Amino acid sequence: MNNQAIGIFDSGVGGLSVWQELIKLMPSESMYYYADSANCPYGEKSPSEIVDLSSRIVDFLLEKDCKLVVVACNTATSAAISELRRRYNLPIIGIEPAIKPAALLTQTGKVGVIATQGTLKGEKFKNTRNRYAQNVEVWVQIGYGLVELVEAGKADSPQAYDLLSQYLNPMLAQGVDQIVLGCTHYPFLIPTIEQIIGKQAQVINPAIAVARHTLLVLQHHALKSDSRQVPDYQFFSSKDELELQAFVATIAPQFAKQKFVKMPL
Ligand code: DGL
Repeated sequence: MNNQAIGIFDSGVGGLSVWQELIKLMPSESMYYYADSANCPYGEKSPSEIVDLSSRIVDFLLEKDCKLVVVACNTATSAAISELRRRYNLPIIGIEPAIKPAALLTQTGKVGVIATQGTLKGEKFKNTRNRYAQNVEVWVQIGYGLVELVEAGKADSPQAYDLLSQYLNPMLAQGVDQIVLGCTHYPFLIPTIEQIIGKQAQVINPAIAVARHTLLVLQHHALKSDSRQVPDYQFFSSKDELELQAFVATIAPQFAKQKFVKMPL
């Protein structure tokens, strides 16, 4: 048993879509969330910059005595997870576009993936695609501008609708029936995405699978907390803790009174 916190990080607020699933599945685990909003977006940064930023965040989470780290960012997973696992001696869990379930679920044999440039151009995505999507057509689209809209609290704005229409309509026209959200910011766009795709396609968000995998890893390493523990939730932002707090208040109002701290890298 281990009552230390799980550390979670992202380039910004996107990883909160993973945090939401983690707290649902593991209500007695303490969680410390780090949003690197000062350096957001990561999508167009070089892998070495992302390794550097991610390492500084993991250093901070280790100072806070975290027992495990969830990289709640596809871009950082793609660029940095191998190096993080090499550098740090604790379990580190990542997130990748859920191509495998999409390839299993598609009826049309056509799958769409929307993610950042870093994720789609990365080696990891190429490997996953080759491994699981041999028998399906994969349409990829870089989601330029979407992360910024989510960070600004504009996930259901007309701008978001317009950009998403521009990105998704060509895939729909090709007959895609699964849309893989390959960036943790995008689940906050689901209501807008669903307005566009209607019943033609379904959205695949890997956050639930990541939460389940995290639980298995905790069990495997005997790191689960005491089930009677009252969890401690803390939130850190490299940019503005009040902006982070305002975002949390919109997605999970019951957590708006937790501890929010500005913590530049
Ligand atoms: N949430 C990050 C991801 O999953 C966003 C990347 C960015 O900052 O561009 O890829």
